[in-house]
Formats: sequence, C-alpha cells, structure tokens
Amino acid sequence: LAVRKVIIAGNWKMFKTQTEAQEFLQGFTSHLDETSEDREVVLCVPFTTLGMMSKSLHGSRILLGAQNIHWEDSGAYTGEISGPMLLEFGIRYVVVGHSERRQYFGETDETVNWRLRAAQRHGLTPILCVGETKQQRDAGETERVIFSQLEKDLIGVDQNNLVIAYEPIWAIGTGDTCETTEANRVIGLIRSKLINPNVTIQYGGSVKPDNIDDIMAQPEIDGALVGGASLQPESFARIVNYQ
Ligand code: G3P
Repeated sequence: LAVRKVIIAGNWKMFKTQTEAQEFLQGFTSHLDETSEDREVVLCVPFTTLGMMSKSLHGSRILLGAQNIHWEDSGAYTGEISGPMLLEFGIRYVVVGHSERRQYFGETDETVNWRLRAAQRHGLTPILCVGETKQQRDAGETERVIFSQLEKDLIGVDQNNLVIAYEPIWAIGTGDTCETTEANRVIGLIRSKLINPNVTIQYGGSVKPDNIDDIMAQPEIDGALVGGASLQPESFARIVNYQ
C-alpha cells in the first residue's frame, strides 16, 4: 500500500520583504502544532527572501521553495533565475506554471515543460499548477483544458519527483472556493491520467482556515497550495494544523 505524501505549501507570490518574512516566521513557528508532523510544510517565497529564509529555517521542519526556475543553467536571460542559483539556498521545491505566470508573463505549456525538466535535473521537486478559467469551465471544457496541460507539460517529466496543484483560475484570490467534492472529482481525473498514481496532488484557490478541514477530508486531495492565507502566520498555521 503506497501512501501519498501530504504537503501544505504557501505561495507568497510577490509579497514580503526580508523584514516582513522574518516577522512572519516568528509568529508562524510558535503556532505550529506538534500533532501536524505527519504533513510536510513548505513556503514558496520570493527570490529576494531565500537567503534569509534558508538561514532562519536551518534545521527546522519547514521546507523552502521558489516560485519559478529557468530552463538553462546560465545565459543571457535578463530577470531570470536558474537551478544552480536556487540550489545554493537549500530549497526543495519550486512552483512551475502558475496561472499568473501563464497569464501575465507569457508562459506556455512548452516553457512550463522546459522549466519542469530543469527543476528535476537539479534534484528539485516541481509543483506543477494546472487549472481552467471561468469561461472554460462554463463552456464545459474543464477536463479538456486540464488534460491538454498535463499532456504537454509532462513530456519527459519524471512522475516520481513531482507534485501537481489543481488551481481553478476562477477560485484564485477570489474567496470563491471550488466545491470540495468538485475539486476532489477533478483531482481524481488528473490522477487517472498519470503514470504514477501516487503523485501528491494539491488543491489551490481561496484555501482558508475555515475550509481546509473539508478540503483535506476529500480522499483524492493530498494537500493545499495556499496564496493569500499563507501570508498571515496565524491563518497559515491553522491551515497546516488542519484536523
Ligand atoms: O498558488 C496559490 C494560489 O494561486 C491560490 O491563491 O490567494 O486564492 O489562496 P489564493
């Protein structure tokens, strides 16, 4: 019986200076429950806080992640960050293909695929984000869109070192959480398309202290990728401490 790993990850997006990140850590660690040790806790932070965070989290159970990675190890790619640069901070995870990257920064399934493979080449575990827009959902295209993303994004990707986050775009930052049973259904469909059925698949989109217990009670959902609610130490600790 293979047991899937439960991972609760915060995605800070473009929030927090080093000073603010330091303040967060003090509050957060003091609110973490000892009984929550069966789950992994990850913070995916801005590049500029990785140095301070890696020092502060040394020896702690909280793991560190980045929010993107370039596919080359070095080169003329102004504004990008490569795998060898990230490895110096002892990070374990990297978010790849977040809908905000796809929507505002021109990421395509092809570049997402290159970034996934680069992460794995450097021994990092990518957290691949997939999800449909409101318009696609209303048009009944949810499955088609997600299957197409998976098919293209996962070419040549090792499913033994992968996390997937199902993030319906209409549920991100809107307070409009996907029905937990619907999130469970889509995540089950995603799992059915994988070669490795034991990939950890998270739900993301308006995860809050008051809905995390219901989300985690769903059999297909192996964790959460949390945006807004991961910025407040008490609320993110409450999410990690879900029942
Ligand atoms: O990556 C997490 C994210 O997109 C969800 O954001 O603020 O709705 O929790 P939020």
